[in-house]
Amino acid sequence: MCGIAGCIGTEAALPFLINGLKKLEYRGYDSAGIAVYDNGNIIVRRKVGKISELEKAIAGETINGTYGIAHTRWATHGAPSDRNSHPHRNDDGHFAVVHNGIIENYLDLKKELMEKGHVFSSETDTEVLPNLLADCYEGDLLQAVWKAEKRLRGSYAAVFMTEKEPGVLVAIRKDSPLIVGYGKNGNYLASDIPALIGYVDQYIVLKNDESAVLTKDSITVYQNGEKVEPEVLPLTMDIAAAEKGGYDHFMLKEIHEQPRALRDCLSGRITPNEPMVNLGELKLDREKMASINKIMMVACGTAYHACFVGKYIYEKILRIPVEVDIASEFRYRDPIVDEHTLTIVVSQSGETADTLAALAEAKKKGSHILAITNVWESSIAREADDVIYTRAGLEIAVASTKAYSTQLLSIYLLGFYMAEICGKMERNEIKQYLDELYRLPEKVQEILDRDPDAIKVLGETVAESENAFFIGRGLDYVVALEGALKLKEISYIHAEAYAAGELKHGTLALIVDQVPVICLCTQRDVEEKMISNMVEVKTRDAKVLTFVFEGDNHGEKVSDTVIKLPNTYDLLSPILTVIPLQLIAYYASVKRGADVDQPRNLAKSVTVE
Ligand code: G6P
Repeated sequence: MCGIAGCIGTEAALPFLINGLKKLEYRGYDSAGIAVYDNGNIIVRRKVGKISELEKAIAGETINGTYGIAHTRWATHGAPSDRNSHPHRNDDGHFAVVHNGIIENYLDLKKELMEKGHVFSSETDTEVLPNLLADCYEGDLLQAVWKAEKRLRGSYAAVFMTEKEPGVLVAIRKDSPLIVGYGKNGNYLASDIPALIGYVDQYIVLKNDESAVLTKDSITVYQNGEKVEPEVLPLTMDIAAAEKGGYDHFMLKEIHEQPRALRDCLSGRITPNEPMVNLGELKLDREKMASINKIMMVACGTAYHACFVGKYIYEKILRIPVEVDIASEFRYRDPIVDEHTLTIVVSQSGETADTLAALAEAKKKGSHILAITNVWESSIAREADDVIYTRAGLEIAVASTKAYSTQLLSIYLLGFYMAEICGKMERNEIKQYLDELYRLPEKVQEILDRDPDAIKVLGETVAESENAFFIGRGLDYVVALEGALKLKEISYIHAEAYAAGELKHGTLALIVDQVPVICLCTQRDVEEKMISNMVEVKTRDAKVLTFVFEGDNHGEKVSDTVIKLPNTYDLLSPILTVIPLQLIAYYASVKRGADVDQPRNLAKSVTVE
């Protein structure tokens, strides 16, 4: 979704602005633009399409100014076009702004400003900002921004500049992330860390309702009009985290990073031969756990699918009922949540607007909130009572892979942690599971190394079809949901996941000659039933592509292809079974020539509701 970059320093701003935008491309966008203060004027250039279009538009121009702002836009109000792209200026061009989020009362503000004679040239909500600012300006940019901000409803991260006050950028933040950072050649800001890597040594995550004033020598942060001492964090991520490192796509790199990501997620949390998970930092103690009679798991997209694994695991090992909900539905259906509910929100980015809103709703109802997220100090991490960081590292491909597998691992860790504290499982049994969790990164590596070509062939086979089905029972079914989503997202093949037992109640009508049906068959207690369901699709001439554990030969007779995965406990299978499904989607997308890392219409981080 939209991205912001900005800088103010001693060197030409343009290279950072363009580079920063490129590092934010992964969030998804449809147009891009820059504004640079140069020789007394704000030069604005905006282009629909990729950043390369913007680069073409400014090639040959000399723009040497040392401060400016830049933006990648993901259209919400007004179609993607040059005119609707950011930065936006007020009607006389003296004020410029970039903005992420939505100004909900923009129509009222626009009407009021037009009555005062302001002229608008785009269909965006953002364009009210520079005009409102111009209206509020009485010689002090910061005061004018604060005055204008009082009139805004909605969510925003926005950065303002004016020709009337050279050498100053003013940033504000409400419900949309914004980071400011100290660098060698000046000060920087961005909506996400990748844009700052290589430029910034230390950064500050602005909190809601904070504003910041950046000059080339200083950053000053304010809350309610008063200066505050912000927490300054070191930026330790190196440039390699934001590069493809020899892989053709970020998605493939991130799939291959999973053994490392899983190890990082486990690090310090379990120790071999110890029957305990170390999550001692959680406020969720024995007393609190004892009062819980329901778990609510809420998320969007891939993280929502991770929640389903949570439901199966927690109900089995904790014997507590678990409800899973889509964040955008949760808050509007008056969910039954109270102080006896543990609400677990799962979010890679920690910034998804719907998940954040769901969190707020559950909190209002008195629920204890535990967040599972990948991003340190993200909005969701801050708002939650407890946080388990997944430690997947920077994930750039829109289609989530290592974030999902580490979300699963975090879900397991929490489950075994609670099981031990509440005495829901024998310690010896917990120890066996934890020892196996410890071995899983190695097994993931084995899947990646063993026979990559066999999975590639499957992906390319699937690429030939316009439809694909994923079936399984129990935990295999919930992983199938994620497999189908991956395939849809990046290859644009229509894919659906079904609980195998439900096929005959409708979907079987769609099983025709040679349609690929990917079958997960790892749950031993329902294996025979699953084989019967595979026979049902095989009888209808589907192409049956099956994944089983090593040593299991049952699926062979009814499958066109069988791929064997390293053995593990049924309960832990999702962390292994999802890996080949990610690869199938990847190879299908490559075969179809689709944009693997930035699929059409999708955004990595969805910061509007
Ligand atoms: C978007 C992304 C998905 C992601 C979902 C939830 O739709 O394209 O990959 O799963 O948002 O994002 P979150 O950051 O909350 O996990």
